[in-house]
Amino acid sequence: MRDNRYQPLTSSLSLYLLYTKKMGGPVIHIFILFCAVGFTFCSNPQLFAENELIANYSHRNLPSVPKSLPSLTAVLDLSYNEISVLLNSDFNSLSKLKVLNVSNNKISWLDTGVLKFNKDLEYLDLSNNSLWNISGTFTEGLRHLDLSFNSFKTLSVCKEFGNMLQLEFLGLSAEKIQKLDFKEVATLQLHTVILTITDRLDYEQGSLQMLKTEKLHIVFPMKEVDPQFVMYDAFKTSEILELTNIFYSWSYEDFWSSFSYVVNHNSSVHSLTLNNVGLPWTTLVVVVQAVWHSSIEYFTMSEVNLLPWITRVPFDYSNTLMKAFTIEHVHVKVFEFDQNVVYFLFSEMMIPSMTIKDANMVHMLCPTKPSLFTYLDFSNNELTDDIFEGCGTLVLLETLILQQNKLYKLSKASAMTAQMKSLRNLDISQNTLQYEDGEDCYWSESIITLNLSSADVDESVFKCIPVNVKTLDLHNNQISTVPVRIAKLKALEELNLASNRLIDLPDCSLFPSLAILYVDLNSIQTPSSDFLQNCKNVSAINAGNNPFQCDCNLRDFIYREKQSAEDIAGWPDSYRCEYPDDVKGTLLKDFHLAEISCNTVILLVVVFIVILVVVISVLSLCKVLDLPWYLKMMWQWTKTKHRINTVHRNPPEIHKNLVYHAFISYSQQDSIWVKSYLIPNLEKGDGSVQICQHERNFVPGRSIIENIINCIEKSYKSIFVLSPNFIQSEWCHYELYFAHHRLFTESSDNLILVLLEPIPQYLIPSKYYKLKALMAQRTYLEWPKEKRKHGLFWANLRAAINVSLSTPEETCSLNC
Ligand SMILES: *[C@@H]1O[C@H](CO)[C@@H](O)[C@H](O)[C@H]1NC(C)=O
Ligand SMILES: *[C@@H]1O[C@H](CO)[C@@H](O)[C@H](O)[C@H]1NC(C)=O
Repeated sequence: MRDNRYQPLTSSLSLYLLYTKKMGGPVIHIFILFCAVGFTFCSNPQLFAENELIANYSHRNLPSVPKSLPSLTAVLDLSYNEISVLLNSDFNSLSKLKVLNVSNNKISWLDTGVLKFNKDLEYLDLSNNSLWNISGTFTEGLRHLDLSFNSFKTLSVCKEFGNMLQLEFLGLSAEKIQKLDFKEVATLQLHTVILTITDRLDYEQGSLQMLKTEKLHIVFPMKEVDPQFVMYDAFKTSEILELTNIFYSWSYEDFWSSFSYVVNHNSSVHSLTLNNVGLPWTTLVVVVQAVWHSSIEYFTMSEVNLLPWITRVPFDYSNTLMKAFTIEHVHVKVFEFDQNVVYFLFSEMMIPSMTIKDANMVHMLCPTKPSLFTYLDFSNNELTDDIFEGCGTLVLLETLILQQNKLYKLSKASAMTAQMKSLRNLDISQNTLQYEDGEDCYWSESIITLNLSSADVDESVFKCIPVNVKTLDLHNNQISTVPVRIAKLKALEELNLASNRLIDLPDCSLFPSLAILYVDLNSIQTPSSDFLQNCKNVSAINAGNNPFQCDCNLRDFIYREKQSAEDIAGWPDSYRCEYPDDVKGTLLKDFHLAEISCNTVILLVVVFIVILVVVISVLSLCKVLDLPWYLKMMWQWTKTKHRINTVHRNPPEIHKNLVYHAFISYSQQDSIWVKSYLIPNLEKGDGSVQICQHERNFVPGRSIIENIINCIEKSYKSIFVLSPNFIQSEWCHYELYFAHHRLFTESSDNLILVLLEPIPQYLIPSKYYKLKALMAQRTYLEWPKEKRKHGLFWANLRAAINVSLSTPEETCSLNC
């Protein structure tokens, strides 16, 4: 079977070979090699410490140890595979190997000295294999060596461990145990020894006692064996003893009587754990009674199968050293019995600490006389509101854990504590609790820690909280707000409201001492900034994983939050924008909004400045470029164009008699401008525009008046070049008069006034009232001084006289 994990390495290596064959160049050589190594590093192992790697190949059906492991591998997990042998070559190159886990394989054979090159190896787990014989040395630096759950016949292997002075943990398994095998190990000061024994156990008495270990854990086979001597020795070997798989039914009474005997006979054990035990109630009482009068201070029974019958057995409560009694994961195979028989045994125990966990217990009795219990843990049972109702004997109780039971009314839970004058910590989490408005709560005032997490409560719970509570855990409930009208919790320092339905941060005026606040996993979009003002004492907050609305409010909040010296848990990774959509998923850390988009004053100032700048530049542009003039000219030009278009569509009769496009009237003094600018610009030399000019077109024989009238009548437009000189010229005024006259008689605006130079009103003699009137109407074209405006001026003027004359050939010639 080929394992996929090697594909990256093999493929990059073959790529490497291919390339080197083809190219052969040293540069490519190095480059590709680098790629291959880099690929291997990144695809499997992670960095352990600097330059050290963790390689996890657990659960991969590997038939053998993978080849080509990175030589820097420090931690190698090969557990749960199909490996059957470990060869010298498997680990030779791994000189940095510290931890090797090959547990749960099928290894039956190790090469001699397989790990002798792994000098740094400290942790070796070979448990749950099929090893039956090992020879060759393990490295001396081992701290942890696990050979438990293997098929060793004897423990002769232990002879090789004498020089492992660092060894703390030793796991062993064997059928035959004899003193001789432990001779070498006996010199070591161990922390833990695990010994798994088989049902064919051949035990030489006194062997175990040779070991020096703080903790001894013996795993018996699942079948019943006679463990007498092992047991006897076990109780004399260590201080902490754990025995697993003890299935001695009531029929095997000898076992339990010998148990009672060994427990009380020179036992060194002060902490005893019995794991996976099957026994009837009466035997259980015998066991507890035996332990009760022994040296054991901490007694734990775990995975207990309680067999039939349950009857009352007398118990002697006197004289005990026991400090803590624990019984957990109890499977009761009896259905009908007097429950009080069971509860009574426990409730009357005069010991500081008792735990009865996961035992299907439906009730517990109130001790009949003032009890010594300071710690009671009844988690994961079926206890109801009636537990300890009106109980006044738990006077020393400091911690009561009723997690995961069937408590229902919060007010009754409070009443339960009323007489527990020493109670400090109460855990009633994972019950389905209810509180109805108006119910009275009677908490013991001594409570400082209350765990109400996962209790299905809503915000009304705040009306029923012990007054002096310092730590309040309300995570995973249905709280949508912290009500404002509740009694102040002056002492509250830590409040956990994670995984609720909050839409805002709580108001700290209710909790003046609050220092730690959890509000992660809620529905907070925009935390109100009041929080920062009111909650000055909060030094740590976790508000991660909320659906933050990334806007200006939040920006302010983040900013001020960063300013304060608070410790923000989960920052920055669990703080992301949820809304608006375009920034969804962005870390709050990376969310930026410009100051201007959030500050109205700045925004207004900026808008004002922009408007001001625009206005000023428009004004100055007008001034510099004379924009109004351009606009005026453009307007006239458009108007003219429009008119021409209309005229073209319905050409009036009048054009029939016209010979010229324009007649020009001007003063002699302005003739230079007329000849060198006006005429050349209008005629453009292509003959398309005909101008009637008196010097050119006047007929000498005729009177001047006749000439003028004739010319005016044959021209489409009359252009008058106005200037102070024009005013002075009598002739010009006549011309103007005629032209204007025609304007009125034929109601066609054929008059174009060109103002060559400004004419002050006072210069115009009063007899020229017509001119005055025309000037007053400002219907003239001004000759611009700036050269750049000339183009538009000419265009405008040309447009004004632009008309197609009926007979362009029939020129005015000298007839004017
Ligand atoms: C080795 O693997 C077993 C089984 O997966 C596990 O219980 C043990 O903790 C592992 N040891 C180390 C050092 O990882
Ligand atoms: C409250 O109980 C829950 C389990 O129900 C536990 O996870 C949590 O840590 C406890 N809280 C405190 C403050 O001890």
